[in-house]
Amino acid sequence: MRVVAPDLTTIAEAAERLRSGGLVAFPTETVYGLGGDATNARAVAAIFELKARPSFNPLIVHVTNLVEAESHGMFNAAARQLAVALWPGPLSIVVRRREGSAICDLACAGGPTVALRVPAHPVARALLAATGRPLAAPSANPSGYLSPTTARHVAEAFRDSDLMVLDGGPCAIGLESTVIDCSAAGPAVLLRAGGIARDDIDEIIGAVEDGTAPDDQRPRSPGLLTRHYAPRLPLRLNARTVSGDEALLAFGAAPPSGAKMVLNLSPTGDLVEAAANLFAMLHALEQSDAVGIAVMSIPDQGLGRAINDRLRRGAEGSACTPADRP
Ligand code: TXA
Ligand code: MG
Repeated sequence: MRVVAPDLTTIAEAAERLRSGGLVAFPTETVYGLGGDATNARAVAAIFELKARPSFNPLIVHVTNLVEAESHGMFNAAARQLAVALWPGPLSIVVRRREGSAICDLACAGGPTVALRVPAHPVARALLAATGRPLAAPSANPSGYLSPTTARHVAEAFRDSDLMVLDGGPCAIGLESTVIDCSAAGPAVLLRAGGIARDDIDEIIGAVEDGTAPDDQRPRSPGLLTRHYAPRLPLRLNARTVSGDEALLAFGAAPPSGAKMVLNLSPTGDLVEAAANLFAMLHALEQSDAVGIAVMSIPDQGLGRAINDRLRRGAEGSACTPADRP
């Protein structure tokens, strides 16, 4: 853990760290973010590991401007109007991912959409410019803790890590960004209340739909969940053996043989590597002509908990696919 004042030298060092897969906590006008290169799945897996989230939520990806944002997502008229009016600022816009975007699957939790934000804070902007990569950054707090609005909050929360923290002083807004979903054809949906008031959004694109529950701010709309990874092939968990018509998602040094296609999450049993590979490998196995995907068991510790959470949900979802019915 190292807290530094942002200047040309420390920002260049932070950018170098990010480009080589390291993590840097940085100030935005809302809260401090725990940043990593959004195009590097290992870096994004390290974010989830440090936050100790028991599941993979999609992360907000920070970019320098609307042109860069449009290279990663498909902006409809409403999304563009909001971006033009309110960026840079405390607004995150969920849009469909653009094919060919270098943002990794894990940053989007395997889903077809991406949340993009252009922050206004000068340190965040300088860091984005120096790094030259989109930065995935959730709030820089361990899962279940309050969002950090000073560098000290971040330092105290991650005392034992080797995180670098850029100290930009207290955050002016101190409340997370508003998250609005413009990824579907219908009206935009407010997923999280935050730094931009709902009235300001209504004024720009007309009335938006409410996707937040009043008391806990969690999305009421099940749409958010269905946007997460839903497997096309049935998943069979804790497989010890595999049949010739199945694809195998392996883990560790000694996978069973005989599968139609095999991808190994981590031959060395490294959970960070496994998390980084999870969604891309599932997508690739789905492209095979196997009848299902057998998945070896993953230790239920550290990032393994988030991996297992995703796999369990995938297996439940696949229980009702036609292929699985008797
Ligand atoms: O102010 C903020 O938004 C801060 C700063 C660092 O930018 N970031 C932040 O990130 O609060 P996080 O990960 O703590 O919250 C991200 C929120 C979550 O509620 C997540 O579900 C939602 O945004 N989100 C991200 N990507 C999404 C997507 N593709 N679809 C729907 N919701 C998404
Ligand atoms: Mg948060």
